[in-house]
Amino acid sequence: MTTEEKAAFNSLLERVREICDTSPAPAERLESVCELLKENLPGYDWVGIYLVDESKNELVLGPFAGEPTEHVRIPFGRGICGQAAESLSTVVVDDVTKETNYLSCSADVRSEIVLPIFKDGRFAGELDIDSHRPANFDKGDREFLESVCEMLSGLV
Ligand code: SME
Repeated sequence: MTTEEKAAFNSLLERVREICDTSPAPAERLESVCELLKENLPGYDWVGIYLVDESKNELVLGPFAGEPTEHVRIPFGRGICGQAAESLSTVVVDDVTKETNYLSCSADVRSEIVLPIFKDGRFAGELDIDSHRPANFDKGDREFLESVCEMLSGLV
């Protein structure tokens, strides 16, 4: 990661923290964070939050920035989001066309990253980002987004 990239991530983390610390309803703050990431990082073309429905072992679409998606409920295990839910770990797919367990939201998407969000040690949601660029998410993005997910913990 270059010094400039690191500075850009750090400045965005500050802005995420500011949004998290404001007073609107949690869903509004989550939506603001999604918009912030989508508007300020190249290739972050769809940014959304899925929330965990523990009674059904499903993910439910929450706030997002980007085009509407048909995937509003996703069972654990299905697609990239469902894989992250089962493994409770970050999943990065550099080329979604090569992934067999994948739910397509748009024919333009080429790569994706999904990160779990934990609240008080329990799996409570996910941050999902789609890119129209292949292999858009590297180690720097992953570390940055893991810090974002820690900050979102109080809002899911
Ligand atoms: N591509 C995801 C589905 C959600 S959309 O990206 C918004 C998946 O395979 O789980």
